[in-house]
Amino acid sequence: MSRYAAFVLFLACGIAFQVSHGVEVNVTDSKDKLCLYANLMVNFSVSYETKGNENKTVKMELPNDVTKSASKCDNISSLLKLDFGDGHSFSVNFSMSGKMYQADFITVSFNLSDSSQFPDSLSNETVSVTVKPQITNVGVDTCYSCKSEDVIRADFVNMTLWNVLIQAFVSNGSKSEKITSCKADTPTTPVPPTTHATSTTTAAPVTNSTSTAPPPTTTPTACLLANFGLRIGFKQGEKYQEMNLEPNVTKVSGTCGVNSSELQLTSNTMTVMFTFTNDTAKFRLHALNFTTKMSSGVEFSEGNTNLSLWEAALGSSYMCNKEQNYTITGLLTLYTFNLRVQPFGVAKGVFSTAEECFLDSDLSFLVPIAVGVALSFLIILVLISYLIGRRKSRTGYQSV
Ligand SMILES: *[C@@H]1O[C@H](CO)[C@@H](O)[C@H](O)[C@H]1NC(C)=O
Ligand SMILES: *[C@@H]1O[C@H](CO)[C@@H](O)[C@H](O)[C@H]1NC(C)=O
Ligand SMILES: *[C@@H]1O[C@H](CO)[C@@H](O)[C@H](O)[C@H]1NC(C)=O
Ligand SMILES: *[C@@H]1O[C@H](CO)[C@@H](O)[C@H](O)[C@H]1NC(C)=O
Ligand SMILES: *[C@@H]1O[C@H](CO)[C@@H](O)[C@H](O)[C@H]1NC(C)=O
Ligand SMILES: *[C@@H]1O[C@H](CO)[C@@H](O)[C@H](O)[C@H]1NC(C)=O
Ligand SMILES: *[C@@H]1O[C@H](CO)[C@@H](O)[C@H](O)[C@H]1NC(C)=O
Ligand SMILES: *[C@@H]1O[C@H](CO)[C@@H](O)[C@H](O)[C@H]1NC(C)=O
Ligand SMILES: *[C@@H]1O[C@H](CO)[C@@H](O)[C@H](O)[C@H]1NC(C)=O
Ligand SMILES: *[C@@H]1O[C@H](CO)[C@@H](O)[C@H](O)[C@H]1NC(C)=O
Ligand SMILES: *[C@@H]1O[C@H](CO)[C@@H](O)[C@H](O)[C@H]1NC(C)=O
Repeated sequence: MSRYAAFVLFLACGIAFQVSHGVEVNVTDSKDKLCLYANLMVNFSVSYETKGNENKTVKMELPNDVTKSASKCDNISSLLKLDFGDGHSFSVNFSMSGKMYQADFITVSFNLSDSSQFPDSLSNETVSVTVKPQITNVGVDTCYSCKSEDVIRADFVNMTLWNVLIQAFVSNGSKSEKITSCKADTPTTPVPPTTHATSTTTAAPVTNSTSTAPPPTTTPTACLLANFGLRIGFKQGEKYQEMNLEPNVTKVSGTCGVNSSELQLTSNTMTVMFTFTNDTAKFRLHALNFTTKMSSGVEFSEGNTNLSLWEAALGSSYMCNKEQNYTITGLLTLYTFNLRVQPFGVAKGVFSTAEECFLDSDLSFLVPIAVGVALSFLIILVLISYLIGRRKSRTGYQSV
């Protein structure tokens, strides 16, 4: 599918222009034409456990001598993968959709046995974490530019990206002069805050789980993928209220099985458990259980174990971009937006072909488009690894 891509690296040293002496990368396709351009600077702050069972935090920069790696591009997806140091890497997956492209995940891996970076580390394994960055809606044939610092916090690593200039899909062999700037770079005129309206821009949670469980040489593969905005409406007594799931404070856990997979999202205010079943040819959301602690201290818990939602063929994923609501019980309603899930048969850590819901189909012109309604949703990206089981690992890395 993805063609062989040669990878050429230029080091820009001492150029005194406004754009950085960042790490500059040109990825070319099989015909030797430029297909991905990137120039960026990244600082990492990584915490790890020492042999004395103390947590230590080290700072690193993405060095200029990153090495040629598995970076590649095709028409709909591209990957920027930079290896550096002794087994460390930084990668960004991009995908094209319509007239826009976006960064789907950033994955960083650190080889804790590199004692020059991680002296006295208890673990000698390679740990990695995936986050969903906020690089979205970049116009095709434009470069994404963000000179401002963008701090992305994940489990055990914080990344600061700045002076970023990326064109993930170069169509005619040369980098575009057109720019899509990030929000932080656009001068702000004070806008009166709208309730909830900013929440879609929240950095999504991290969620490729990494386990430091044995065997150390194999990295776990994601076995469940989910990406959605979620709001929950529930009625207690006469009082109806709604809660958004806030990705930045949500912990993700789950299990994958042959016949059943579970996804649990826990924030400080609520717990939502999704149970998916495999019915030989199809999968579906079979059970859902929601629990929240009211400010009064009373617990509200409601669930349904006889659902048939989000059905799609095994080996594919279910997708519904339109805003949707689902009545779970008389007291509980689920609202989703930009939904995509795959609870079984995930290959290579990416979603398989999607089966789309009715509302996304061509008949959807029947549904009036409500602009702006969706803003109160938050997007959450979930990747559960096979090894997740019990998330607390020996070395104390907790992965969500
Ligand atoms: C990145 O790290 C270098 C070296 O640690 C430091 O001098 C620089 O200020 C950092 N920059 C940012 C934006 O964090
Ligand atoms: C991790 O670091 C150790 C020690 O520096 C090195 O021997 C090993 O090859 C590295 N692992 C990878 C995958 O590069
Ligand atoms: C990693 O550590 C384990 C014990 O903690 C040890 O058995 C194993 O040999 C080590 N592996 C390497 C590559 O050093
Ligand atoms: C990441 O940033 C948060 C908030 O600033 C801080 O509490 C945490 O210790 C940082 N983690 C690392 C690994 O630097
Ligand atoms: C999580 O994101 C929300 C919305 O952007 C913000 O109000 C809140 O302070 C964040 N919480 C934490 C712990 O970062
Ligand atoms: C679904 O279940 C069937 C047996 O019930 C099993 O053969 C198949 O491998 C399962 N599919 C997945 C993707 O786990
Ligand atoms: C999955 O379901 C099939 C048929 O329903 C059953 O034969 C099989 O034992 C189940 N597998 C597991 C791991 O529960
Ligand atoms: C939902 O989960 C809570 C706590 O785990 C449990 O007490 C409750 O019985 C569950 N409800 C349903 C309907 O499964
Ligand atoms: C589950 O739902 C089906 C159809 O929606 C219904 O026929 C069946 O009685 C329900 N089962 C239970 C235990 O509620
Ligand atoms: C739920 O969805 C239906 C269409 O599927 C729509 O008519 C209805 O207004 C929605 N309800 C809410 C509360 O959004
Ligand atoms: C999740 O992490 C695992 C292990 O690092 C990796 O194999 C997998 O490709 C990652 N998934 C995604 C979507 O990045």
